[in-house]
Amino acid sequence: MKRLLTGLQPSGELTLGSLIGGIRQSVAFQEEYDSFIFVPDLHAITVPQDPILLRERIKKNVALYLACGIDPTKNTIYLQSQNLYHTNLSWVLECNTYMGEASRMTQFKDKSKKQQNVAVGLFTYPILMAADILLYDADFVPVGVDQKQHVELARDIATRFNNKYGDVFTIPEPLIPKVGAKIMNLQDPTRKMSKSDTDSKGIIFLLDSEEVIVKKIMSAVTDSDNKVYYDMENKPGISNLLTIYSALSNMEIKEVERKFSDSNYGNLKKEVASLVVETLLAIQEKYKSFMEGDTIEKILEEGCIKTNKIAKEKYDSVLEKVGLGRV
Ligand code: TYM
Repeated sequence: MKRLLTGLQPSGELTLGSLIGGIRQSVAFQEEYDSFIFVPDLHAITVPQDPILLRERIKKNVALYLACGIDPTKNTIYLQSQNLYHTNLSWVLECNTYMGEASRMTQFKDKSKKQQNVAVGLFTYPILMAADILLYDADFVPVGVDQKQHVELARDIATRFNNKYGDVFTIPEPLIPKVGAKIMNLQDPTRKMSKSDTDSKGIIFLLDSEEVIVKKIMSAVTDSDNKVYYDMENKPGISNLLTIYSALSNMEIKEVERKFSDSNYGNLKKEVASLVVETLLAIQEKYKSFMEGDTIEKILEEGCIKTNKIAKEKYDSVLEKVGLGRV
């Protein structure tokens, strides 16, 4: 069975973008693949975090994975920080990654502009991500389009390492969803909907109330053309709404376009809002039940034991190849 692996940072509250670009693919493929989904909590501290909020969000992430349909009997679910091999392997990979290739990461360029003091970890973050993936020989990595470059870096690092030391790593492939690979901010549809944005008006959080969801969608920025069709370049706001509808209804964009061809923007927004509300309220209901009791603790404990075993084996073989470890 091929292996699939992904993770969503607890650096902010998960959004509709996280669901559509990140979690849904894992849910869709969990029957076919040996699936791993983890919380990249070490990645979250590449930017300043409040420790209390961070700890809360880590648990919330897991509850949301489950509520969105990740089946714990079909997935290995774990925390990155509970497995020391991620950072250990990351170091070895850092010593096999060039400054030039790490400096090309567009997300670093964007994120570092927003920080007063840029942590070194923000720069090396994609190498830790490569370690997350390569440690488990993942064949496929479902991600939104913003993470594609990072998965490609993991491929490059793995290929170079294999060429230098012999076959150690599986070369991973990014899995980008056909629809919804980049859900845009509702207030500025030329920018990604990002959980770390400071202004929440354009972001739908998975735990937003019905009232807030409706308000945010009804005030989404559109254009003055008043014709509903998909054209990301000239009509990014409307195209974003059509994309959200298409992703959540599993209808092709063309079909969604047809459905709304006679609608005005107000009606389109109402229908999108109602589908988002229906989807998210169902998730929120399940989320509440997972946050109670000790289901999450048990799942994470199991995941921790299992992944430490797998990771130790891989890490030991890496040490052996590079001439480290036992003498
Ligand atoms: P993160 O936490 O920023 O995003 C999690 C996943 O959600 C996708 N995503 C989106 N997709 C579509 N539209 C959006 N607006 C949107 N926002 C987020 C992201 O593409 C991603 O798939 N570095 C990663 C986390 C990570 C990881 C890994 C992922 C660490 N190690 C190993 C895969 C494998 C990140 O920051 O994603």
